[in-house]
Amino acid sequence: MPEIFEIEGGQKLSGEIEVNGAKNSALKILAASLLSDEKCKITNFPFIEDTKRIMEIMEELGVRVEKNEELKEVEIDPSGIKGTSLTGELVRKLRASILLAGPLLARFGEVEIDHPGGCVIGKRPIDFFVDGFKKLGASCEENDQSVKIVSGNNGLVGEEIIFPKISVTGTESLMMTAVLAKGKTILKNCAMEPEIPVLVEYLNKCGAKISGAGTSTIIIDGVGKISGGEFEVIPDRIETGTFLMMGLVTDSEITIKKCIPEHLGSVLEILKGAGAKFEIGTDYIRTISGSKLEATSIATHEYPGFATDLQPPYTLLMTQAKGMCMVHETIFDGRLFFVDQLSTMGANIVICDPHRVIVIGPAKLFGKKLSSPDLRAGITMLIAGMIAEGKTIIENIYQIDRGYEKIEERLAKIGAKIKRVRN
Ligand code: EPZ
Repeated sequence: MPEIFEIEGGQKLSGEIEVNGAKNSALKILAASLLSDEKCKITNFPFIEDTKRIMEIMEELGVRVEKNEELKEVEIDPSGIKGTSLTGELVRKLRASILLAGPLLARFGEVEIDHPGGCVIGKRPIDFFVDGFKKLGASCEENDQSVKIVSGNNGLVGEEIIFPKISVTGTESLMMTAVLAKGKTILKNCAMEPEIPVLVEYLNKCGAKISGAGTSTIIIDGVGKISGGEFEVIPDRIETGTFLMMGLVTDSEITIKKCIPEHLGSVLEILKGAGAKFEIGTDYIRTISGSKLEATSIATHEYPGFATDLQPPYTLLMTQAKGMCMVHETIFDGRLFFVDQLSTMGANIVICDPHRVIVIGPAKLFGKKLSSPDLRAGITMLIAGMIAEGKTIIENIYQIDRGYEKIEERLAKIGAKIKRVRN
């Protein structure tokens, strides 16, 4: 039977919580490791459901994966890949599986992939990927189940590609694919998330020739092959921001350790402007109790703007702030629908349209039975349960385990009354 989380509200938190390696960095290095036929060692690796699923998909292709959860290390040996067909339930369930397509196409000249589903936060198209591969000279045959991509007779040839919209995995995928294309590829209107320059630093160490990462234009000079190497996953900036807002909304004094504060972009400035009290160190953030939170409107934006993955916990925080504000989710269509579950707890939220809600606070929350629609809404519900009066039950917690490793153990260590119940 599926597991649930049971949370008793009203607990203050205290102590230290360490941030794990970033999900959205680890998933990309796993994909990038397929560009080479040599081993890649990954340290500070997050053993979460999404990374476990991607490694299972890779093993089905013939990749050897050595895991050491104790040491948080993984070693990838991509020398034995025997196929490039990414099909089946596992692929269809996980959006991030699209990340494997480019490297397989670049190295083997063809790949077939089932349309990936994954999050429910809005239909997740893959047109930027398919159009990008075509621009590099590949042919694509698409049906409603899958797409088969084959590189041209002359292999993949570098090209100028302008993304119609900023796409994080679109940028990373076409960048990785272009590493083995012939000639120069220029990518424009690229994402600038911190995980991208870190990935490029690794690829260049392995022999790739990429410049411009972290800006909106990335230039890749194709090379024949790249070597293996060692990659350290950076701290998860979304975990960092989530724990920061958890400390603020529970009015607790906690220290979030092993993080990179500047990776939070404009989030820290916005929180300070809303009256949040916290101290920023080189690799920690410490929340201070007694913040007088003022309702402050935000619009999510690509990095370094307010991260869409931090919008759900921020929306919860605003239910406890004084006054009225608007939360405008500009990136995804379905990322605000979780607010109806906060409203059942007593939050005062008006849905204006699929992208905008008005939040009026402060509102007292009461424990309820909730279900997690996606990982970021899920962790937000878990935190809502921590401040609500009484008990909160959360179902569908696989969604939370997708991105937060051993979350109930880590939160219980700082005082949360939370337990995982196997029904
Ligand atoms: C990445 O998703 C992250 N996932 C997401 O984190 C994050 O929310 C998102 O970037 C935005 O920061 C990973 O890195 C694995 P996009 P991604 O392509 O790359 C549209 C989490 O919770 N689009 O930047 O899939 C798309 O619909 C996850 O950890 C197309 O139209 O997001 C969206 O409106 C959720 N066609 C916009 O671009 C495409 O081919 C930005 O999406 C691709 C995307």
